[in-house]
Amino acid sequence: MRRRARARRAPGLAEISRLARAARESAHAPFSGFKVGAALRAKTGEVVTGCNVENASYGLTMCAERVAVFKAVSEKMRGFDAIAVVVDSSHLAAPCGPCRQILWEFCGDIWVRMENLRGRGVTRRMSELLPMPFDQGNL
Ligand code: THU
Repeated sequence: MRRRARARRAPGLAEISRLARAARESAHAPFSGFKVGAALRAKTGEVVTGCNVENASYGLTMCAERVAVFKAVSEKMRGFDAIAVVVDSSHLAAPCGPCRQILWEFCGDIWVRMENLRGRGVTRRMSELLPMPFDQGNL
């Protein structure tokens, strides 16, 4: 079986990490206090940002990653190659389960850069975060 190459180097992720960090400032997180910023890059180089938006009913809370994806898709953008996710924690935040499904469906096997405010981070591919996905290929 062929082993998938581990993502160690991906091009130009510093810039989208910076944009994700800035987007995090807009987070509406009065309930958890956990602010998240995301920046999704299209293959054209265009970048769309997102932040988490919480709700008093909790369950309606939307993660930063999905805000970025839905903003982009609602603007007819398609074809992405990377997303950065920034949090203020030594424990880096990987996209949650629902976000992984949405990212896979709209973005495919993109680079995922997870970073904190100190600039410490890890980079993975979506296929590492969501192995054996359910998608259009199953239907
Ligand atoms: N959150 C995100 O925005 N992205 C993640 O990858 C993990 C969690 C948000 C949802 C909620 O507003 C807060 O972080 C705590 O779960």
